[in-house]
Amino acid sequence: MAEILLGVTGSIAAYKACDLASALRKQGHQVTAILTRSGARLVSAYALRTLTGNPVIESVFPELHPDNCPHIAATDRADLLVVAPATANLLAKAAHGLADDALSTTLLSVRCPVLVAPAMNHRMWHNPRVQSNLLALREAGFQIIDPEAGMLACGWEGQGRLAAVETILARIAASLEAGKQAPAPGLPVRVVCVGPLPAYQTAGAAGMDLMAAEAVRLGPGAHALVPTGLRVELPRGYEAQVRPRSGLANKHGLSVLNAPGTIDADYRGDVGVLLINLGKSAYEVAAGERIAQLVVARCARVRWQQVEALEDTARGEGGFGHTDA
Ligand SMILES: Cc1cc2nc3c(=O)[nH]c(=O)nc-3n(C[C@H](O)[C@H](O)[C@H](O)COP(=O)(O)O)c2cc1C
Repeated sequence: MAEILLGVTGSIAAYKACDLASALRKQGHQVTAILTRSGARLVSAYALRTLTGNPVIESVFPELHPDNCPHIAATDRADLLVVAPATANLLAKAAHGLADDALSTTLLSVRCPVLVAPAMNHRMWHNPRVQSNLLALREAGFQIIDPEAGMLACGWEGQGRLAAVETILARIAASLEAGKQAPAPGLPVRVVCVGPLPAYQTAGAAGMDLMAAEAVRLGPGAHALVPTGLRVELPRGYEAQVRPRSGLANKHGLSVLNAPGTIDADYRGDVGVLLINLGKSAYEVAAGERIAQLVVARCARVRWQQVEALEDTARGEGGFGHTDA
């Protein structure tokens, strides 16, 4: 069974941390809660101490805690740190490395995986600064459990409600299971895949090969949407681009008709490849054959600001080959 640190912050959903602590303890895990000052306004340290059976870490300068530096001692033993609920404030502090209380300081000293379940008003959740902090955390390797949409405690409806306790428990179980394997570098992306998982072929490869889930015959000039049996859950702020494979294009004239196809972060369907045969002969795509490349890249969303005129530059309107002599 695992040693789990449970960070609890000043969200109205803090009371759900009690259910989480209780369920984890029933599963046989050792749980130690780390409670922020705002969190303690919304759920009592006494309740968390009773439910976890362990002293609650509330300060980096503890009066009553058995460890002199509990924020360090706890991390020496921890298999997982879960912050549920996580406020916008906590996300910002963790993204920027602030360490002004026990939880934020612990987040800097942990070596174990970190799961973060944010909860907040929907306008706060969609605020670009909150989203950019989440991106930074994802890139730092934190696993984010997105909040759910629904009726919020503030009376508004939208995305921001803490994920269900069962969802958080399932992600904890998956993370502990994954932690038994050697940690791999890279952005964690949840995936459902019928066949073998696409993989980078070399250390410097930018893309992974996508494989056909079924055989398809493409006559000259014909195109077809070839399923891959792959469904992905990309973090927000990322897209996956489906690109042609150079070998297939060079040898057989096979390309991707809508290249680069975009897989959006909220798409959950099959990653299909719209293959076109630009060659002179028919081509038989075999099931399992590598048919395209998948490149995951960061992308920005814009907010248009309509103005009367744009700022001048030396280049001005020069485009379409204006640099050629
Ligand atoms: C009743 C109440 C509920 C709150 N709920 C949330 C919330 O769900 N999410 C959030 O980001 N902030 C919420 N806040 C604001 C935070 O408590 C505030 O930003 C605080 O500074 C967070 O501190 P902490 O991150 O150290 O716990 C709430 C405040 C109050 C008074």
